[in-house]
Amino acid sequence: MTDPNPPFSGQPGTGADDLLVRARLVLNKLCLPDGSALGGSGRLSGVVMTGERLSATIAIAPDEASDFADLRAQAEAALRALSAGALVVLTADRGAPQLKPASKPPVLPGVGHVIAVASGKGGVGKSTTCVNLALGLRSLGLTVGILDADIHGPSLPTLLGLHGRPRVGPDRKLIPMQAFGLKAMSMGLLVDVETAMVWRGPMVMSAITQMIADVDWGQLDVLLVDMPPGTGDAQLAIAQGTPLAGAVIVSTPQDLALIDARRGIQMFRKVNVPILGIVENMAHFLCPDCGARHDIFGSGGAQAEAVRLGVPYLGAVPLTMDLRAASDAGRPVVAHAPDGDLGRIYVSMATALWSGLSTNDRAARNVSTPSQPLTKSQGKPT
Ligand SMILES: Nc1ncnc2c1ncn2[C@@H]1O[C@H](COP(=O)(O)OP(=O)(O)O)[C@@H](O)[C@H]1O
Ligand SMILES: [Mg+2]
Repeated sequence: MTDPNPPFSGQPGTGADDLLVRARLVLNKLCLPDGSALGGSGRLSGVVMTGERLSATIAIAPDEASDFADLRAQAEAALRALSAGALVVLTADRGAPQLKPASKPPVLPGVGHVIAVASGKGGVGKSTTCVNLALGLRSLGLTVGILDADIHGPSLPTLLGLHGRPRVGPDRKLIPMQAFGLKAMSMGLLVDVETAMVWRGPMVMSAITQMIADVDWGQLDVLLVDMPPGTGDAQLAIAQGTPLAGAVIVSTPQDLALIDARRGIQMFRKVNVPILGIVENMAHFLCPDCGARHDIFGSGGAQAEAVRLGVPYLGAVPLTMDLRAASDAGRPVVAHAPDGDLGRIYVSMATALWSGLSTNDRAARNVSTPSQPLTKSQGKPT
């Protein structure tokens, strides 16, 4: 068993962030009345710090209150060991009885590597990066799937121009949709966005775990998971409850986004998920009229951060009208212009990602061979 509370290997964030991650890890290890772990059960949410007080919420069915009294006391004691004040509340809301326990990561026998694409906050271009990296990996001859786990803001249907509902196969598993040679699944294809908007942490986690396990992904070299933005309970649970080979962090160069990106990196490191790289998105603006370069969000911030944290820097994507227009029209740049300036950037980043992954694998474990070996000529490093 690895130490659940190793010191951060990178620069620590704020003390409060550190405390919240520690609190979640301690709580995750507590046992439910049936002996399974609280972590991954989908019941824990709302781990927050208010002033000096750490608090958390455990979802229960209305008739479970007495069974969960001990757990509540244990959880409160565990939080009190970390902070002066502690409060744990049992909530019996409608979501609790239907929760599906997911204390063990689902097994995906045909999938070589599951990679999370994450950012500390939304709107930094995570989904755009995820789709184009997936297409970059595809252009290397790999079989690739994308799971859009951003339940509150699913954008995969738009980015890939997907319509309709996925079919259910004979074994009751969902058949992923196909676009540009990728297999794709998104909550946006299954549930109205308005319906999902009101889901709280436990339901989100439960839905994502089911989307990973109950989809017939078949044989894939890589499954990219477009993570929900942020580093809260749902994200931590996915990081712990999914068989991740690693994570790619997307950030814009400015300081505020980097603070969020750092949080994301810390979260993955805490649960021993390797950081496979940082992508700097909206790195600079190339004016289509005068050709001048404008560093709207500053410059090189994510690269400097990658160096400082000792994680691979995959590359920078400029802020361009073309990319936004192509994405919104469901025509991802790598699909229709792989040899253009933007296409080459993504293919280069995908090449670096795949090489890093292969190196990690050779060093660490025995995994399936990709359907086609990586060919150096296809990726053109910038
Ligand atoms: N490098 C870029 N240049 C121009 N527009 C971009 C770029 N990256 C993302 N966008 C646009 O920014 C918006 C947010 O991107 P998105 O990928 O949905 O972010 P996130 O998934 O992090 O919320 C989208 O309209 C997208 O087209
Ligand atoms: Mg998104």
